[in-house]
Amino acid sequence: MNMPMYSIPGSTPATAPAAGPGAALADADAASESTAAARTVAEVLAHSQVEAVLNELDHDLVGLVPVKTRVRDIAALLVIDKLRLNLGLASQASSLHMCFTGNPGTGKTTVALRMAQILHRLGYVRKGHVVSVTRDDLVGQYIGHTAPKTREVLKKAMGGVLFIDEAYYLYKPENERDYGQEAIEILLQVMENQRDDLVVILAGYPDRMATFFLSNPGLSSRIAHHLAFPDYAAGELMQIAQKMLGTLNYRFGPGAAEVFARYLALRIRQPHFANARSVRNALDRARLRQASRLFADRDRVLSAADLTTLEPADILASRVFLANPGDAHAARPDL
Ligand SMILES: Nc1ncnc2c1ncn2[C@@H]1O[C@H](COP(=O)(O)OP(=O)(O)OP(=O)(O)O)[C@@H](O)[C@H]1O
Ligand SMILES: [Mg+2]
Repeated sequence: MNMPMYSIPGSTPATAPAAGPGAALADADAASESTAAARTVAEVLAHSQVEAVLNELDHDLVGLVPVKTRVRDIAALLVIDKLRLNLGLASQASSLHMCFTGNPGTGKTTVALRMAQILHRLGYVRKGHVVSVTRDDLVGQYIGHTAPKTREVLKKAMGGVLFIDEAYYLYKPENERDYGQEAIEILLQVMENQRDDLVVILAGYPDRMATFFLSNPGLSSRIAHHLAFPDYAAGELMQIAQKMLGTLNYRFGPGAAEVFARYLALRIRQPHFANARSVRNALDRARLRQASRLFADRDRVLSAADLTTLEPADILASRVFLANPGDAHAARPDL
């Protein structure tokens, strides 16, 4: 069973100093109290510290401009909702259920975590955690098993975000008696009735999601925001690699960045390419090779530069180059 519960990494002053979940909650409560008097956007932003999350999103994630813009729009809606509430203007909580479509490794899970953080800081959900599930976590194998399973998941997700990955697997048109339908019906009820304390994000590949929505208009009509995650361009993947290496305290040595760019150009065309996830995997393997290379020389004194530098050879040993012997050969002069 795969049901990771993510807590939000507190990387801004509001939650940074070793604050446990309780402390984060206290912050949020204090924030929602003080925003009750807010009359300007600036006041709401200052109290909720939501701008810090938006800025981090801009800074930490390469590209994704359309997604970042939509996230800002949603934050703006929530801020204005809060100001309306403060003036006693009648309003129904905005529906915030979302759909994230995109190919593997395009940042859907990462953005869901940030979104949960934003919803929490603006007081839309109580806790701001993300419960990530797939069909198997919601749907049982036998009659009578699905409803308790789905309700258990919903209970865990209440006060935060329920992220349903590859949501279309919930619906199996070829099987009339599929229990997935039961899970969908319970989800629909909760999405309608408890939308002020639970945000559901359905995620998956664009084409399958479109088919799924056509067959499930009830779900489709409850999704207020559709966010499309585009594939990354080669230059963006390179920037993502540099960012990941920086975070890990590694760097490309002379010639290595060029070799990695060539690696990416080849890898993109191969099966199962998964955008930023493939970049992370490739860097992990390059780190393994770097370690083996350094390990082989028992008596060498290793400097900080030795320990942090990926050399062209650490990347060129990849099978991706083997599949294209011409290119591997062309790469040799770099060594
Ligand atoms: N724009 C980006 N900038 C920097 N890092 C990114 C970006 N997008 C994704 N990543 C990184 O790539 C990895 C995969 O991202 P994530 O898990 O969010 O993708 P996903 O769309 O949920 O993929 P999957 O469909 O495979 O679940 C993560 O380590 C994430 O930090
Ligand atoms: Mg994911």
